[in-house]
Formats: sequence, structure tokens, C-alpha cells
Amino acid sequence: MRIPSLLVIAASLNLVKAAIPTHRYNGGCAAVAQRLYCFGGTSNQKTTSDHYVFDLSVDFSVEKAIDNWNTVTSTDFQVEPNSLFSIVPLNDSYLVHGGLGYGSSTQFLRNVTTMFNATTESWETINSINETTMVPSREETSTLDPFNRIWTWGGISDNTTSANITEVTYHDEMQVLNMNTLTWSFPDSTNTSLQPSFVRARIAHTETLGRSGKSIFYIGGLQSDDNDQLIAASMSEILEYNIANNTWFLRKSPVNSTVPSSRRLHSATQIPDHDLIFVYGGSATDASKTVTDYSYLLNTTSFEWTAVDILNEGAGPRFGHSAVLYKGKSLFIVFGADNLGNLRNDFFILDIANWQWVQTFKTDGVYPSVSSQSNSAINTGPKSTTTIFSTTLGNESSSANANNQTPIPFNYITTIYLMLGVMVVFLFC
Ligand SMILES: *[C@@H]1O[C@H](CO)[C@@H](O)[C@H](O)[C@H]1NC(C)=O
Ligand SMILES: *[C@@H]1O[C@H](CO)[C@@H](O)[C@H](O)[C@H]1NC(C)=O
Ligand SMILES: *[C@@H]1O[C@H](CO)[C@@H](O)[C@H](O)[C@H]1NC(C)=O
Ligand SMILES: *[C@@H]1O[C@H](CO)[C@@H](O)[C@H](O)[C@H]1NC(C)=O
Ligand SMILES: *[C@@H]1O[C@H](CO)[C@@H](O)[C@H](O)[C@H]1NC(C)=O
Ligand SMILES: *[C@@H]1O[C@H](CO)[C@@H](O)[C@H](O)[C@H]1NC(C)=O
Ligand SMILES: *[C@@H]1O[C@H](CO)[C@@H](O)[C@H](O)[C@H]1NC(C)=O
Ligand SMILES: *[C@@H]1O[C@H](CO)[C@@H](O)[C@H](O)[C@H]1NC(C)=O
Ligand SMILES: *[C@@H]1O[C@H](CO)[C@@H](O)[C@H](O)[C@H]1NC(C)=O
Ligand SMILES: *[C@@H]1O[C@H](CO)[C@@H](O)[C@H](O)[C@H]1NC(C)=O
Ligand SMILES: *[C@@H]1O[C@H](CO)[C@@H](O)[C@H](O)[C@H]1NC(C)=O
Repeated sequence: MRIPSLLVIAASLNLVKAAIPTHRYNGGCAAVAQRLYCFGGTSNQKTTSDHYVFDLSVDFSVEKAIDNWNTVTSTDFQVEPNSLFSIVPLNDSYLVHGGLGYGSSTQFLRNVTTMFNATTESWETINSINETTMVPSREETSTLDPFNRIWTWGGISDNTTSANITEVTYHDEMQVLNMNTLTWSFPDSTNTSLQPSFVRARIAHTETLGRSGKSIFYIGGLQSDDNDQLIAASMSEILEYNIANNTWFLRKSPVNSTVPSSRRLHSATQIPDHDLIFVYGGSATDASKTVTDYSYLLNTTSFEWTAVDILNEGAGPRFGHSAVLYKGKSLFIVFGADNLGNLRNDFFILDIANWQWVQTFKTDGVYPSVSSQSNSAINTGPKSTTTIFSTTLGNESSSANANNQTPIPFNYITTIYLMLGVMVVFLFC
């Protein structure tokens, strides 16, 4: 009997089945092995363990893409619900670290650091040396360096992140997970002068490895002040950490230059071969609403901001979304909360060579320009798009570095976050 035997095979593999994702934000996505994976996030006011996969090995229509998702199911590993974690794409896998977990002060993540291997389509827990010396946190950010080390910084620990925590702690110490030895180390702890006073813990910020591979840039979010209260971090004050000599710098945008409005839950993507980071979306810092100025390039040499006008219709303002750069060319803006306060289950693709939203995904990332105007798409003032992108971008595959954003959920300053919802109501101030 032909049909039953096929069913048996399908059931025993049990890895993927078609599904339309539920609307969500504050999850994480990563492109690995010609597939886009999205894990977790908050949906229907609960953190989820949903795991979706999307095939990127063929061209497809973005408008019809919603039908192409599959779910990834895990048979022998119990995947825990999570949001507000950091996600780091590795070559054939991706790492999920920290997070809100169950969103409960009685049930906590058992596996704080896990890895999904896209080759075997299976999860494993990363048990690393020195992990017990760290307090679990959420809303921290992590990025991979060229030496297979993951740099984790920022975030908050409280009575939802682990048992026996009675105080709220914001983290300003650097934590490094060497993936070759599976060991955590704490480079700043050995020498307090490596931690200057301008380094204030942040949450809901972004972390991006710069073009040189030697510096990490921390942008936006909320930061703790002298009284441990959270205030908006100015977008004109970028924290840079040099991983070669463990030195912090406070980089300021030039006087009188454009400064984007403060934001959290945005995304930041290194543009391959350029000293530019693309910052997309975000929420206002004092309310759960999208910022209106939602698309910028940061020059990581001059620390000047340039607004990017994307001419055609696309993802629009969002926060708690994911940004995943695929093959250095196609930037996926996935899920998140929109300007009407609705959670989304769709994605859009930005062609970063022409700064246009595309209707059809191309596996090679080469898109025809929708209009001759698109070369003036960037409001650069003195520097025009033509200068920045007159040639095609380099074809290095850098998706591993591109998805460094960690979306963050709550509004700590007011209680409007209830609009979008989490399981537990927190009152931080
Ligand atoms: C945690 O990791 C272990 C393997 O280390 C796995 O067996 C288990 O299913 C995972 N999930 C939970 C909730 O323990
Ligand atoms: C990942 O892939 C890159 C490019 O192929 C390679 O240079 C690097 O060594 C790989 N990293 C690991 C940990 O295998
Ligand atoms: C993923 O699984 C493959 C096949 O077992 C293995 O060769 C590879 O090393 C795994 N990747 C990681 C990062 O453990
Ligand atoms: C564990 O962390 C401590 C600092 O807290 C450090 O002295 C020690 O070398 C680390 N262990 C390893 C194996 O790196
Ligand atoms: C957790 O902390 C919050 C505020 O920080 C407090 O209101 C709540 O009572 C705490 N819950 C438990 C179970 O300790
Ligand atoms: C919390 O405290 C209880 C009682 O002291 C202890 O049994 C438990 O192991 C602690 N949990 C953690 C995660 O430290
Ligand atoms: C601590 O770091 C500072 C700045 O890098 C350096 O000048 C100083 O020598 C270091 N001190 C020790 C004891 O390593
Ligand atoms: C670390 O390296 C950066 C860039 O080369 C340099 O500007 C800085 O002075 C160095 N810091 C220390 C403490 O050596
Ligand atoms: C900044 O703008 C103010 C007001 O327009 C002007 O007075 C000031 O000279 C400017 N500063 C610089 C450094 O351009
Ligand atoms: C960034 O600023 C530096 C210094 O002004 C400039 O040399 C470089 O060309 C700028 N990068 C881009 C891509 O415009
Ligand atoms: C970039 O693309 C060109 C032509 O398509 C190819 O010859 C070259 O090897 C590629 N470079 C890398 C680093 O993949």
C-alpha cells in the first residue's frame, strides 16, 4: 500500500511540516545553509518554542511567501519557550543564549545556552566551563568574532531569569564564550580600569561586529543611570569595544549632525565591505510604539547618521522584528510589531545594493533596480548613494555576522507594554 507507507516515512522523519507562523515579536531568526530559521518570540501574550524554517534555495514571490513556511519539530529534545534571547548564527547551526524563558517567577529555563544544528536538524544544550559563574539574563546581546568566540554584553537579571534572584541587575561586564573550547571568560574582570565609567549597562540595544572584525558596536536601547534607573541611550553615543585589546570607547556623532530619535528593539546589520551599519525600526523608549524615523545608516568611522529613504512599499516601521542578511545582499525584515500596534507574521526583503524592497527573492541576491530614482534613495547630503554603493557589494557570505540584534519586549518606563503583552506584568519603576 503506497500511501500508508509514505505516511509512515513522513511521520518518522517528523521534522518539517507546512505551517503559517502566528503573529509574534521578540523572537530570533538566523540564515543557515540556505534556510531561514525563526525561533521563539512572544505570541498571544506568551513566550513560545515555535520553530519555523523557510527554504532560500529557490526564488520565490515575497507576497506569497507566507505559504512556504514549515515547522521544525524536535522529538528527543524538549525545546523551552523563550523570547528576548540572543541568537548567533554559526556556520552550520545557530546558538540561542539567555532570554525570558517561561516568563514566570516560578519556572525557569533549564537550558540557558542551546544550539540548533541545521545539518542534523537537532537541538543540543551547550554545557560550558564557567557557565555557573554567570547569572542568567535576558535582553543581552551576543555576536560572533572571526575566532569563533561569542561576545555577550548587557541585559537584565531578575526573579524571572533564575531561581533565588531577588534583585534586579543590569549587566555591564563582558562575557565571552569560546566555541572552540566551550569556555566562558570575563576579560574586564581582571582589571577594573578596563571598565571606564561611561560604560553603562544597556538593554534592548543592538550589538554588531564592525567591518574590521576587531570592533563591536553597541547602539541605542535603554541604559542604567547612576541610580540604576533605565533611561534612553542617545543614538549619538555609540559604545565601541575593541576585542583585540579589550578597550571600550564612547564614540560621539559630530556636533550638529543628524541624530535619530532614541529607540529600543531595533535591528542593526553590518553592510559587507563598508564602514556602515544599517539600523532598522525600533520602538520609542517611553512607549510601545514604533519610531517614525526607522531607517538609517551609521558610518562607523565618522559616527555620522544618514537617513535612508526606501522608496517602495515594504516592512514599514516595526520593532521586536528580526533582521537577517542573506549572502550579503538580501536583508530579511521578519515579524515584529507594527505602527498600528499589531504583531506581524510576515517578512519583507530589502535589496541593500539598491535600497529597495523586492517583490521576488533571488537566490543570487541580484535585483533589477525598480526605478532610476533608487540611486538617490539615501538622504545623504554630501555623501550620496552613488558614492556608497556605486559598485555591487562584495559577495562574502556574511549572514553569520548580520543578525546581531536582540529584540527586547517591555516598556520599562510606562506600562503601555501591556498592549502587546507578556505573561507576567513587571513593574520596574
Ligand atoms: C535540556 O537539555 C537536555 C540535554 O542536555 C535535554 O535532554 C532536555 O530535553 C532539554 N530541555 C529541558 C526542558 O530540559
Ligand atoms: C566557518 O566558515 C568560514 C568560511 O567558510 C570559515 O573560515 C570558518 O573557519 C568556519 N568556522 C568554523 C568554526 O568552522
Ligand atoms: C552539526 O552536525 C554535523 C553532522 O553531525 C557535524 O558534522 C557538525 O560538526 C555539527 N555542528 C556543530 C556546530 O556542532
Ligand atoms: C573561569 O572564570 C574565572 C574568572 O571568573 C577565570 O579566572 C578562569 O580562568 C575561568 N576558567 C577558565 C577555564 O577559563
Ligand atoms: C519578582 O520581582 C517583582 C519586581 O521586581 C516583584 O514585584 C515580584 O513580587 C517578585 N516575584 C517573586 C515571586 O519574588
Ligand atoms: C535556589 O535555592 C534553593 C534553596 O536554597 C536551592 O535548592 C536551589 O538549588 C537554588 N537554585 C538555584 C538555581 O540556585
Ligand atoms: C589595566 O588596564 C590598563 C588599560 O589597558 C593598563 O594600562 C594597565 O596596565 C592594566 N593593569 C593591569 C594590572 O594589568
Ligand atoms: C586598543 O586598540 C585601539 C585600536 O588599535 C587603540 O586605539 C587603543 O588605544 C588600544 N588601547 C589600548 C589600551 O592599548
Ligand atoms: C551648531 O549649530 C548651532 C546653531 O545652528 C551653531 O551656532 C553652531 O556653530 C554649530 N556648531 C558647529 C560645530 O557647527
Ligand atoms: C565614513 O566616514 C569616513 C570619514 O569621514 C569616510 O572616509 C568614509 O568614506 C565614510 N564611509 C562611507 C561609506 O561613506
Ligand atoms: C565573488 O564573485 C565572483 C564572480 O561572481 C567570483 O569570481 C569570486 O570568487 C567571488 N568571491 C568570493 C569571495 O566568493
